[in-house]
Amino acid sequence: MFIIIAAMGKKSELGYKDKLLWKLKADMKHFKSTTMGKKILMGRKTYESLPGKLPGREIYVATRDENKAYGENAHAVTNLGKFVETYKNSEEEVFICGGAEIYKYFLPYCKKMIITEVYDTKKADAFFPEFDYEKWEIKMLNSGYENGLYYQILQYEKF
Ligand SMILES: NC(=O)c1ccc[n+]([C@@H]2O[C@H](COP(=O)([O-])OP(=O)(O)OC[C@H]3O[C@@H](n4cnc5c(N)ncnc54)[C@H](OP(=O)(O)O)[C@@H]3O)[C@@H](O)[C@H]2O)c1
Repeated sequence: MFIIIAAMGKKSELGYKDKLLWKLKADMKHFKSTTMGKKILMGRKTYESLPGKLPGREIYVATRDENKAYGENAHAVTNLGKFVETYKNSEEEVFICGGAEIYKYFLPYCKKMIITEVYDTKKADAFFPEFDYEKWEIKMLNSGYENGLYYQILQYEKF
């Protein structure tokens, strides 16, 4: 099964110029503990923007470039349709880690999302895709203030 994990602002902002918009320690800790030991998939642009390469997770990088090769713990995925067929009905959790293109592609196949909503707005060029909130049951997992910003970590489960 696929689970989206993301952090977004009040206007669904995700990133600007291939960078994240916020660096909230609590959110980074939450991302690490949620994804540790799991398979995670992200787009090539997000992967290339990472400051570190996320040890302890098996990384899949979506790219259309058949010649791309990543390190030992990061596998290029050129056929997302095949990847979807392999994992969409499996018990194994595969975390979808963005960015915008990849969230949009996987949203129809996700029954669960874990989204950190940051109560802030920033200039952005990457946005989370629109979705119908009424089709999801929402539960708050955590909330807090950091650097003067209020955030909520919400779990969405499809009805
Ligand atoms: N706030 C958050 O939670 C969060 C999380 C992640 C990322 N972000 C932000 O999001 C932004 C990046 O998002 P983005 O949409 O520009 O890029 P992206 O989704 O990270 O990567 C896009 C790339 O994925 C590959 N791809 C897309 N569709 C594919 C398909 N159907 N089959 C195979 N490969 C495919 C292509 O790689 P090739 O060009 O190599 O073919 C494409 O250029 C950055 O600003 C980043 O910081 C935010």
